Amino acid sequence: MNHHSKLGVTDDWGMDGGDSGEGGTGGGGPGAADDEELTKEEQALLPSLIGKDVIKTGYENVASLDEVQEKLHEHITLPILEPELFRAGVLAEGTRGVLLFGPPGTGKTLLARALASEAGASFLHITQSVIKSKWYGEAEKNANAVFTLARKRSPCIIFIDEVDALMSDRGDTSAHNNNVLNEMMQEWDGLIQDDKVVVLGATNRPYSLDEAVLRRFPRRLLVDLPSEEGRVAILTLQLKDNVLESSVDLEEVSRRAPGFSGSDLKELAKDAALEAVRQYRKLSKEDRPEITPTENGAVLVPISMNDFNVALRTIKKSVDSNSNSAHKLNEWNAKFGEIKAKAVKHMGFNP
Ligand SMILES: Nc1ncnc2c1ncn2[C@@H]1O[C@H](COP(=O)(O)OP(=O)(O)OP(=O)(O)O)[C@@H](O)[C@H]1O
Ligand SMILES: [Mg+2]
Repeated sequence: MNHHSKLGVTDDWGMDGGDSGEGGTGGGGPGAADDEELTKEEQALLPSLIGKDVIKTGYENVASLDEVQEKLHEHITLPILEPELFRAGVLAEGTRGVLLFGPPGTGKTLLARALASEAGASFLHITQSVIKSKWYGEAEKNANAVFTLARKRSPCIIFIDEVDALMSDRGDTSAHNNNVLNEMMQEWDGLIQDDKVVVLGATNRPYSLDEAVLRRFPRRLLVDLPSEEGRVAILTLQLKDNVLESSVDLEEVSRRAPGFSGSDLKELAKDAALEAVRQYRKLSKEDRPEITPTENGAVLVPISMNDFNVALRTIKKSVDSNSNSAHKLNEWNAKFGEIKAKAVKHMGFNP
């Protein structure tokens, strides 16, 4: 189980201050409906809507996912930026839905946000709890409002995180859930290219999605664990504002971190940086090396290879590439996905 119980707007949004609450009034700009013109259900969704001027996370914060980025650009950004290329012919129908799937912590949510910022679109972050828990029993109305609000604040990306929680196989869920699902699919089918609304889904468990839902996600992109080079790129990006001693060899760190996801690598980098601070604090004030603070007064203790050695002993990967779900994911990708899994060299191998 992961974070299905999270509220609609989750962790860091790349907004200044993180929680300024501006998300709710975002999505403004020309043609945007005033808040007063929104229905009660649409208004309740506003906290989950991040305006196009508010999202600050761009692709510069994503590493080693070039192929996925390129496909997202073609399917979602281009039709928004150069609509004339998509006005007639077979492309006029647009891409109805794009599914990002892959192991936890590989950057799916990060990509979705970066995409919205690149496309200059607003971003409606939907999770199961947004639809279901606001007014229990009116979930169908909420589901409907997701699409009507997105149209009013277009261009808009409807991002359904943990899409499996909301749209899994209907066999084992209640009739109530079916109604919600049917409502969403109807609204989804009603979208036209001119609406400039795209549905982007993310999941770790694509194999549990309802087939009817799958049809509405014709493009399915694997967001895989990073390769050895990918891990170097991710570490380099995450440590770009830190000071590394010349002893640090990130390629070696990467070699010794097989199977680490982007989020595991972030933990690793944080632990190495923390170890550097620990060592620094062990020294008496006189013995501490002189560090010139940055403009905003931060003191960046240089990180050494030894700090990484300590971190590598502490931080473990969180995805088991030999687990049942990893195999299911690979199998599913081979059948339904459009990006080939890289030959990530971490299967059953532990240095
Ligand atoms: N490719 C990457 N490039 C840079 N940072 C990454 C990458 N992948 C993961 N990260 C780091 O890990 C964090 C978690 O990633 P994110 O929340 O996007 O994972 P996810 O794929 O959505 O996971 P889940 O399936 O559990 O929701 C990011 O905020 C980022 O700091
Ligand atoms: Mg996520």
